[in-house]
Amino acid sequence: MTENNLASSRELEFKSFQDWNGDRPSLTLIFHDGFSSWWIKVEIAWSLPESILKSGCLKRRFMLQEFVKAIDFSQLNLMDDTVTRITLTLAERSHNPIPFRNIQNDCQRETNYFLSVAYKTSFDIAEDPGRTLYPILNQAQDIPTFEARQLEQEEDIAPTVSIIRFKEKHFAYKTIDRPIYDPGDTEHILNEITALAQFRGHPNIAQIIGLVISDSPYKTHPSTTSAPVITGFLLEYYPEGTLERVLSKDQDQDDSLLRRWALQTGRALETLHLQKRTHLDIKPSNIVLDANRNAILIDISGTGGYEWEWLSPEMQTFIQQNVETAPASTSFDKRVATDCWAYGNLLVIMAKKTGASCFGKRLQSIGDDLTKMDPRDRISLSDALERMSGQE
Ligand SMILES: Nc1ncnc2c1ncn2[C@@H]1O[C@H](COP(=O)(O)OP(=O)(O)OP(=O)(O)O)[C@@H](O)[C@H]1O
Ligand SMILES: [Mg+2]
Repeated sequence: MTENNLASSRELEFKSFQDWNGDRPSLTLIFHDGFSSWWIKVEIAWSLPESILKSGCLKRRFMLQEFVKAIDFSQLNLMDDTVTRITLTLAERSHNPIPFRNIQNDCQRETNYFLSVAYKTSFDIAEDPGRTLYPILNQAQDIPTFEARQLEQEEDIAPTVSIIRFKEKHFAYKTIDRPIYDPGDTEHILNEITALAQFRGHPNIAQIIGLVISDSPYKTHPSTTSAPVITGFLLEYYPEGTLERVLSKDQDQDDSLLRRWALQTGRALETLHLQKRTHLDIKPSNIVLDANRNAILIDISGTGGYEWEWLSPEMQTFIQQNVETAPASTSFDKRVATDCWAYGNLLVIMAKKTGASCFGKRLQSIGDDLTKMDPRDRISLSDALERMSGQE
């Protein structure tokens, strides 16, 4: 095959490659034709031979890219303003063969597994159910909006969060799109926006600055007009890192700082509960420090991910017995109890950083009383806070 028979890099813009150890590898790309663009996901839906599974992910990506360059996308019925999924299967007698540009070069066909089986691939075309869902901006939302193209990306700090600059100020930008996206993530982000709007002004809960909007990233024809979509939101940027980072340092911390962080986190959590919300992912990486080293609770959707070892023992048992149920769908009392247990766990970890001081022993004892095996033996969050503030 000569280069002329392959799509040029101007026509095909490769976006991402997914490959679960060779199980259903897929390539997401944009096909540009004139001024129009289509998002496409090409997915391999047959079991690859052992030799290809052993060849490694980089080799598979390269071979799949070369294969995709040989497909003639202009002959396919691609869908506008969304992601078209092209699922490829192997059939000895292909009923629906994928259209190829002129494949002439036998040499490349021999060395590229996907090209070698190209003649027997059959395809199926549908809207990609796994595409990132961007909600349309609801004008009723009483939150300022920022155009994505006006934000200057500075640094990624987590798979979902980056630092951006806007008018000489830094903000944290949490995006809907992420390396491993689950369609439920859009709903979690919307829940987080609602919760953040509810706690505006609270000194120890992350403060929302605005929604980030843009034209739909999947827009096919630039000249058409469409409603803007939400791509994520901006938070105040808290520059002193997470409690996880501080607590992982191989050194003790000042008692007065630890007491402050414990009280501030506990009060933020109590505020959530008073407003009938729960956090469900209390852990050191969801507490960040502002420039004055105050603790700020983040990730407050109440429905996003959770970490198994930060769930209370009774919540773990409940989830094991009801595998279809997420902690977020359990009763309010159960959720509050798991939040308080996780908070107690956090206090126990913090107590280890006090160098066995008098306050450290107190923190340990409060943490122990919040994490007792039997929920009926545990103290309440307000009792814990009272016992701690008595030490101020
Ligand atoms: N406003 C902020 N200021 C500074 N850092 C932040 C801010 N928001 C988030 N981060 C950083 O980004 C990380 C991930 O943020 P967040 O917990 O909101 O995302 P997530 O995708 O829900 O993460 P996870 O699933 O790991 O809990 C945090 O642990 C923290 O390091
Ligand atoms: Mg988090």
